[in-house]
Amino acid sequence: MSNQLEKVKELIQLRDKARIGGGEKRIESQHKKGKYTARERIAMLLDEGSFEEFDMFVTHRCTNFGIDKESYLGDGVVTGYGTIMGRLVYIYAQDFTVFGGSLSETLAMKVCKVMDQAMKMGAPVIGINDSGGARIQEGVNALAGYAEIFQRNILASGVVPQISGIFGPCAGGAVYSPALTDFNIMTKGTSYMFLTGPKVVKTVTGEDVTQEELGGASVHASKSGVAHFAVENEEEGISLIRKLLSYLPQNNLEEAPVIACNDPINRLEDGLNDIIPDSSNKPYDMYEVIGAIVDNGEFLEVHKDYAQNIIIGFARFNGQSVGMVANQPKYLAGVLDINSSRKAARFVRFCDAFNIPLVTLVDVPGFLPGTAQEYGGVILHGAKLLYAYGEATVPKVTVTLRKSYGGAYCVMSSKHLRGDINYAWPTAEIAVMGPSGAIEVLYSKEVAASENPADITAQKEQEYRDAFANPYNAAKYGYIDDVIEPRNTRFRIIRALQQLQTKKLTNPAKKHDNLPL
Ligand code: HXC
Repeated sequence: MSNQLEKVKELIQLRDKARIGGGEKRIESQHKKGKYTARERIAMLLDEGSFEEFDMFVTHRCTNFGIDKESYLGDGVVTGYGTIMGRLVYIYAQDFTVFGGSLSETLAMKVCKVMDQAMKMGAPVIGINDSGGARIQEGVNALAGYAEIFQRNILASGVVPQISGIFGPCAGGAVYSPALTDFNIMTKGTSYMFLTGPKVVKTVTGEDVTQEELGGASVHASKSGVAHFAVENEEEGISLIRKLLSYLPQNNLEEAPVIACNDPINRLEDGLNDIIPDSSNKPYDMYEVIGAIVDNGEFLEVHKDYAQNIIIGFARFNGQSVGMVANQPKYLAGVLDINSSRKAARFVRFCDAFNIPLVTLVDVPGFLPGTAQEYGGVILHGAKLLYAYGEATVPKVTVTLRKSYGGAYCVMSSKHLRGDINYAWPTAEIAVMGPSGAIEVLYSKEVAASENPADITAQKEQEYRDAFANPYNAAKYGYIDDVIEPRNTRFRIIRALQQLQTKKLTNPAKKHDNLPL
């Protein structure tokens, strides 16, 4: 065998060695836990044969606690680039079979390299987390490595989409990288995220809690909002990442891809002309409206189980990607509160950062009253949503279906927050507050003095309804551009979005904003 052939053989052997990470036994143990390996995850995620790996031969440099006697090619993370539906993406996947995927100086260096490349090329970054956290033997070098990644997450925010899959442990300071990214997807039963684990919790607070109860996928998807999606298994998580990317542009200077639309743009939905109940206190399901108007009824909901009084997610109109925001009358009457405001505000800002138009469907009775909300800072959280809509420069199309009361009227993409096209259904009620509250404020003395308080209340409420429970007052002032037939909503939104395609609007130059965090 020639010298060169020997060297090629050695390369192939080294590659094979790198590909088994921490070894067959640990791969087996990973599989037994119901998890895939880093390389298997990458292979499932990327278009077949598209993966190009970086830094396969990187090894750690630490000598503490005898760790220098144990070393693996690639050092606990697989990194590189490839394509998803033909579009470039950068990826890193922590390899739990090598020191539990724990983060070393060199592991961080590998992650930073793909993030830097992604920024130069203007392509999304996907990180698959499955790690025991900072590699304990590395001490401060592991912490430094984390902080280097965080810094890059921050600079990449709003420049390229960043998506985190949490497919295993993600604890301690490690949680902050996913927290800084745009979307977190957690697998049920096999992933968890927390700052301090159950043992520390027990010591400090005395609480007995399992890993799942403390930071499992369902907890973060429904209670904390840290996870945008909780999926049954890794396959579902991976196909979700691919689907999510199809709605997004590669970076903040591009637009999301437009796909061919086979759903007629002028499709009439007669059912929408009769969906609003006679009593304005009765709910209906906003999902039915969304499903009826978007292309082929397809809606990728984000934060499905968190703050269900507002619905957010991606859909398409005539093939164009949009961010949908809609109050849900079926849940807490669609009221705005702390969690729904935060949820929608971050989504609106994401869409604005990535040139994705916003379509807002309004049916909101106002902000939720009470001490729990006020003590929790609903003023500041509500202001986040107000801020997000007000600063957004993407096309904003809004349809008011029914209630739009008080501060919530202003917040929900109103004309006054530079809403481009604001339509209303004939069932819209746009006023300072609902009839009963208004009559209580305006006529409480008359009602108290009357021999028939119920009659006078009913009469005054009817007068109020006649005056305000309609869209025409707002339309009279031009705050509503047109009152539209509900069954025609899809067509009117598509027309509006077409008209807004060349929209140019910039905010005043500033170092950065100071939104009410
Ligand atoms: C070095 C680690 C490690 C770590 C795991 N391993 N975590 N090595 N540093 N942080 C190694 C184990 O020694 C073991 O090596 C292998 O990875 C697999 O770990 P197991 O414990 O056998 O796996 P499992 O039973 O599944 O438990 C997983 C785990 C547990 C729950 C994650 O390993 C664990 O509790 N690890 C420590 C977690 C932790 O406290 N990390 C520090 C968090 S603080 P062998 O050779 O046996 O295969 C932090 C600060 C970051 O991260 C701050 C950033 C700002």
